[in-house]
Amino acid sequence: MFLNPKPVMSDYLTFDAAESLDRESRYLINKAKEATSHSYSPYSKFKVGAALILDDGTVVPGSNQENASYPLCMCAERVVLYAASAIYPGHKIHGLAVVAQRAKEKDLVPATPCGACRQVLFEFEERQKKPIRIVLFGPGKKWFQFPSAASLLPLAFDKNSL
Ligand code: THU
Repeated sequence: MFLNPKPVMSDYLTFDAAESLDRESRYLINKAKEATSHSYSPYSKFKVGAALILDDGTVVPGSNQENASYPLCMCAERVVLYAASAIYPGHKIHGLAVVAQRAKEKDLVPATPCGACRQVLFEFEERQKKPIRIVLFGPGKKWFQFPSAASLLPLAFDKNSL
């Protein structure tokens, strides 16, 4: 088994129930849940919904979009980030929620953002110089609240490394 010589700790809060979260997070979770209905995921049958909120309160919802050429599938998180940047340039993102469901099942499935999405989230955060709060339904069927994209991606690679 590979072991990191120095474990890097991530910073987050967990909650047993969504009701325990703050108002904005609950609102974004509902928007992310709604967004799963527009997921195009005939291949994985795994529906992911995301919603982000901008500094002026605008919400951008989105979902994963797949393709018969599998590598072209796009995660819900990147759909909302790129849409926000393209439609509302210059606005800062305050928070983002993401949830997942299996097709034809009502319950949420615990899932955490993939590495690619963490990297993209991280660069959005760096660009806007303001933390993006991230809420997700994760392992143990708990709600996780990360204070920033950086806390989801310790030791991130960024432009300063180039
Ligand atoms: N997916 C997301 O939308 N977000 C993630 O963070 C992980 C995976 C999508 C991509 C693909 O459409 C499906 O879930 C299965 O991997």
